[in-house]
Amino acid sequence: MDQRGFGVDFGGSGIKGAPVDLVAGEFAADRVRIETPQPATPDAVAAVVAELLVQFRGTAGTVGVTVPGVVRHGVVSSAANIDASWIGTDADALLTEATGHEVHIVNDADAAGVAEVAYGAARGQQGLVVVTTLGTGIGSAVVHDGVLVPNSELGHLEVDGHDAESRAANSAREAEGLSWEAWAERLTRYYRVVEALMSPELFVVGGGVSKHAQLFLPLVDIKTPIVPAALRNRAGIVGAALHAARAV
Ligand code: BGC
Repeated sequence: MDQRGFGVDFGGSGIKGAPVDLVAGEFAADRVRIETPQPATPDAVAAVVAELLVQFRGTAGTVGVTVPGVVRHGVVSSAANIDASWIGTDADALLTEATGHEVHIVNDADAAGVAEVAYGAARGQQGLVVVTTLGTGIGSAVVHDGVLVPNSELGHLEVDGHDAESRAANSAREAEGLSWEAWAERLTRYYRVVEALMSPELFVVGGGVSKHAQLFLPLVDIKTPIVPAALRNRAGIVGAALHAARAV
């Protein structure tokens, strides 16, 4: 595997990319950010990814790109929080064509999961690790002995009659103005369901809100150890780069 990779994180407000040192799991140069086009259709996003890569003057090599949806063989097949036109799109082919680089897409939470296991909060952890990202939705990565089981989509479990992410994502906390305590009650309910189904050794919690982990994670009342992600907002880019390097 190459020691240098390149990752792009496709988010709701920004598309961010950086070269990644795959030995250290760190950015090898400053990140570039471009506003996410609206609507964020596949063609519009592909044009922005191409524009971003031009800024690295062809040095990017193989590129990994995160997508907040189910991904199989480079094709996106769900779109809970993104433009519906992504469904059925062969994003590997589209982005490879648009950028002139070999591109491999990966679910955003799966990217964060492989990064946390390789370099972060779950480094060296044997057995089952469940990484969740709390953002607009809830993403999940299921990793066993360092091997990812992709597309777990545990954010869409039905909990108390609701799509779990509609009640427990960080967007629900913000939209409903929940206190940290009230939100932690919902998270407790959510993680107890995942705990009962999966019996992981460890939960890792990522997403932008994980920088405030000390305000809510100690209030999540479950038996399994639960820790904040270590890579913070670098996890998507680093994980996408690692995924793409492994795919080559
Ligand atoms: C999507 C997942 C994604 C998660 C976090 C969910 O709504 O279904 O694919 O990983 O949001 O972005």
